[in-house]
Amino acid sequence: MTIQKMALIGTGVMGMGIAQIAAQAGVEVRLFDAKPGAAEQGLEKLKVTLHKLAAKGKLTEQQLVDTLARLIILESIEEVAGVDLVVEAIIENLEIKQTLFKQLERIVAEETILVSNTSSLSVTSIASACQHQGRIAGFHFFNPVPLMKIVEVIAGLATDEQVVVDLLDLATAWDFGCPD
Ligand SMILES: NC(=O)c1ccc[n+]([C@@H]2O[C@H](COP(=O)([O-])OP(=O)(O)OC[C@H]3O[C@@H](n4cnc5c(N)ncnc54)[C@H](O)[C@@H]3O)[C@@H](O)[C@H]2O)c1
Repeated sequence: MTIQKMALIGTGVMGMGIAQIAAQAGVEVRLFDAKPGAAEQGLEKLKVTLHKLAAKGKLTEQQLVDTLARLIILESIEEVAGVDLVVEAIIENLEIKQTLFKQLERIVAEETILVSNTSSLSVTSIASACQHQGRIAGFHFFNPVPLMKIVEVIAGLATDEQVVVDLLDLATAWDFGCPD
């Protein structure tokens, strides 16, 4: 499965790091945060980072323009419809994550992969309230995301093997390693 469009829910420290590496890798990233103004704030900070990278010669002017164009702020969570992947990077709270995943299921297509960047919660528990649990997995990045270059793919009890393969392929495409 090729990931061309993704949504990033929770535009804090981790969310914006993941948004950066995905947008730099060519993925359209739709940003949503429940706190008013948080996505705008996150994107402003990221713009500064990307301009600094361009000033240091680590991004060409064209890469800078293209990366910025791939970062889109959503007005409502309903606008995540149509993406190939949703990455959740919200507060580390099981009930709030479960509620979000249930909500996401009502918006996205059945084949859309849903992942959590959780550090400590069970992927099986996060997915437990959902109807299509096979497409849900953990995709655990480390802080600071653009520098750490490593991500854990975590299967829950119900996660489809193909979803694990797709996430490992995506990590490789983004030039991220996976620990054994
Ligand atoms: N900070 C780290 O070093 C680190 C490392 C790996 C994984 N994580 C995990 O990543 C996730 C995010 O951590 P962070 O440090 O980026 O947090 P953060 O506090 O910087 O950002 C969380 C963002 O989520 C938003 N949010 C909260 N509830 C929401 C909801 N229901 N819907 C939409 N947006 C919501 C908040 O407004 C905030 O902008 C957590 O699950 C955390 O355990 C964190």
